[in-house]
Amino acid sequence: KYAPLIAPSILAADLAALGDECEAVIDAGADWIHFDVMDNHYVPNLTFGPPVGAALAKRLKARHPNVPIDVHLMVKPVDAMISAFAEAGATSITFHPEASEHVDRSLQLARDAGCKTGLVFNPATPLEWLKYVLDKVDIVLIMSVNPGFGGQKFIEEAIGKIAEAREIIDASGRDIRLEVDGGIKTDNIKRVADAGADTFVAGSAIFGQPDYAKVIADMRAELA
Ligand code: DX5
Ligand code: ZN
Repeated sequence: KYAPLIAPSILAADLAALGDECEAVIDAGADWIHFDVMDNHYVPNLTFGPPVGAALAKRLKARHPNVPIDVHLMVKPVDAMISAFAEAGATSITFHPEASEHVDRSLQLARDAGCKTGLVFNPATPLEWLKYVLDKVDIVLIMSVNPGFGGQKFIEEAIGKIAEAREIIDASGRDIRLEVDGGIKTDNIKRVADAGADTFVAGSAIFGQPDYAKVIADMRAELA
C-alpha cells in the first residue's frame, strides 16, 4: 500500500482565482491537484475544458513542477477529452468506464499519450469492469457520492466497496492507487483509509475552511 496522498478538488475553490487557489493549496501541503471535468451530458453540471487545464498546468509546471494534476473526466464520450487533457499537461486521467464505448482502448489512449490512467466507479457501478484491464490501470477511483457536484454527503456503502477494490488490487500484485472522491472530511478520512484507500480527494472540506494548511494537517494526523 502506498503512502497516503491528499488531493484537493479545485471544484470547491474560488474559481475566480483558480491559479492562486491551486498554489495556495499546494503551499498548504496538497500532494495532487484534482481537476473535475464535467460536461452537462454525463453529469448535470459543466466545469472546465482543456484550455483551462492547459493554462493551469502551464502555471503549475513553472512553479510546482512536481505536483501531479489528476484529471477526473465526467464526460461522455471520453476519448477526445483524454487526448486533449493529455496534451494540456495532465499527469493522470481517470474516466468512468460506462462513459467509454471501448474501455481498453480509452485506457491505452491515455497511456500512449504519456499519462497515468484509471477507472472511476460510481456508487452503483460494479467493480467487474476492472477484471480484464488491470494491467492498463494505475488508479482505481471509488466515488463516495454521485458525480456532478461538490459538497454532497458521503455514501456509507462506499466503505465496503473500497475494501473490495483493495482486495482486487492486492490480489493483482500491481502498483495501483486506490483513490476515493466525495464527501471526504477530517472526521471520516480515517475510516476510508482503514477500508483500504490511499489517495483522498477533498473539495469542500478543504476550500470551505479559511486555513487550508490546518485542514490538510488535520487529515494527515488522522491518517498517521
Ligand atoms: C464530484 C467530484 C468531486 C467533488 C468532491 O463529482 O468528482 O471531486 O469535487 O467534492 P467534496 O469533497 O466537496 O465532496
Ligand atoms: Zn472528482
